[in-house]
Amino acid sequence: MPTTDLQHLYNKAWLFASQAHLGQTMKASQLPYSTHVAMVANELIFADREESVGALEIALPAALMHDVIEDTSVTQATIADLFGERVASVVASLSKNLIVPFSEEQYFQAIAAHSKEAAAIKLCDRITNLQSAPATWTQTKRASYLVESSQILAALGHAHEYLATRLNTAMVRYETLI
Ligand code: NI
Repeated sequence: MPTTDLQHLYNKAWLFASQAHLGQTMKASQLPYSTHVAMVANELIFADREESVGALEIALPAALMHDVIEDTSVTQATIADLFGERVASVVASLSKNLIVPFSEEQYFQAIAAHSKEAAAIKLCDRITNLQSAPATWTQTKRASYLVESSQILAALGHAHEYLATRLNTAMVRYETLI
């Protein structure tokens, strides 16, 4: 897909996600939730310059909408109508609420089995979330977040070597925040 079309797709998906998350904020922050998804997409775009994240026309809109099914009333069917089945399927694979009863291991394994795009987005999501620790989180919570991050690295790191290195660096840095 030409770059100009990808830029258009970025804005279409970001506007859709911003509207869907309207009123929601990032953890322990007053910033709108749309800030988080733009950071994840930023991580993804730069990672793709180093090593392919799969089809960017799938991965980019899915990154921007990665929490829409889990955190808003938007359904997989609506995303499929507006952005196509493949984008909707990647977003669904990243949605914890669709796994009942929820198991972390099953969640990470399903993402790994789904696609390179899904794995890359989950890695980007965690790298972004490790950038700073929410002020309200206790040391215990932060430590368990690091344990979960190692599980993500173990389950998905093989899908994208560059992002695996980024995640590892983000984890080491996060430890110094504790
Ligand atoms: Ni997220």
